[in-house]
Amino acid sequence: MDQSLSKLEQFLSAFREAVAAGTLVRATLRMPTKESGGLTGVDIRPVALKSGLKLGFVLHTKTQDRQENLDADAAFDRVGAWLAVGFRQGFVFATDADVSYDAQGKGPKLKRAAPSSKAGPVLGHDREKHRPVPADRPWLQALGVTDDKGEVLKSAGDKFRQINRYVELLAPVLESLPAGKVPKIVDMGAGKGYLTFAVADYAARELGRDAQVVGVEFRRDLTELCNRVAGAAGLDGLSFVPGTIADHDATGADVLIALHACDTATDDAIGKGIAAGARAIVVAPCCHKQIRREMEAANIESPLEFATRHGIFLERQAEMVTDAMRVLVLEHFGYEVKAVEFISDQHTPKNVMLIATKRGLGDKRALEKFRAAKAVFGIRKHYLETVTGLG
Ligand SMILES: C[S@@+](CC[C@H](N)C(=O)[O-])C[C@H]1O[C@@H](n2cnc3c(N)ncnc32)[C@H](O)[C@@H]1O
Repeated sequence: MDQSLSKLEQFLSAFREAVAAGTLVRATLRMPTKESGGLTGVDIRPVALKSGLKLGFVLHTKTQDRQENLDADAAFDRVGAWLAVGFRQGFVFATDADVSYDAQGKGPKLKRAAPSSKAGPVLGHDREKHRPVPADRPWLQALGVTDDKGEVLKSAGDKFRQINRYVELLAPVLESLPAGKVPKIVDMGAGKGYLTFAVADYAARELGRDAQVVGVEFRRDLTELCNRVAGAAGLDGLSFVPGTIADHDATGADVLIALHACDTATDDAIGKGIAAGARAIVVAPCCHKQIRREMEAANIESPLEFATRHGIFLERQAEMVTDAMRVLVLEHFGYEVKAVEFISDQHTPKNVMLIATKRGLGDKRALEKFRAAKAVFGIRKHYLETVTGLG
């Protein structure tokens, strides 16, 4: 690096060089300032399109993610401008080195370290092909997701997409975990462990981090199978324990995840994350029967009866109300929550994801809003209240 340049110029030049040499795996911008235009983070990867090589930007805000593809020059200008005012940290992960720029504290710092991404750059043609969990992972075959040629089986295509997208959305959370401690990640209602494996594998392979990843699942046959596959895959920190979510001791969990944990099992999972003081709770809920039953019971009285007397509307309403009330409980306990559609409804109707990040003091008005929602929808009890001791 040319030491006569400012630290920011040196960082941008490392970014340009990695793009030009084809060694860029990914780049990220973190620690937004008030001038970030509402962005909370940016992830950048090389993308090969028909029109040539571009840089694919995923722009994160509190409530949604937006994707944009830019030519290299426009991308360099954009990153330079953001690091001048909008973000305090930038990272370039290339196959030959990791370079970080940090403008927090006294004077900007620039660090060059050994590459943490062991895999080479993946040139995605589009978001679907650009996968944080590549199909060639041996454990995918052992779990029946891919065949012996590493092709995704037709029957497992939706699950493969879900875990990839889940890990993509979880990546900024995992990257933000402090170094110097082995993070503990707990997957509640792990099933056959697809997501649990994907997260453990991503942390080791892409982030170069040791992580303790635990899958909790009440079907013992599945936990035994998953432990065997984890051992064979050499994923040391990964283990599966049989038992219920409610009985699991999640103390020390830094990140709590759950993909399609049935009905109130998602509430149990959220409750465990809150009790553990997890830095992040990321759940994609499944069937919303508990609140549906409550709303059904209240139907005759409710002013919303004109809509909820139709089964399909009731179901959609119950889903929205259940999850929106979960958001309020999380906000009450000091989490900032993003609700996103994590995968197209073409692949699953259960496509809402709540990404909750611990921010500190709780929102004082959240409980008030929660109680008002109960009154409007005639809900006597939301199961998450019980789990978290709120009612
Ligand atoms: C729909 S599957 C999803 C599995 C996995 N997360 C995935 O997406 O592939 C839900 C899983 O959660 C488990 N489960 C449901 N409620 C549970 C509970 N209260 N405690 C432990 N496991 C539970 C079920 O046995 C099932 O394997």
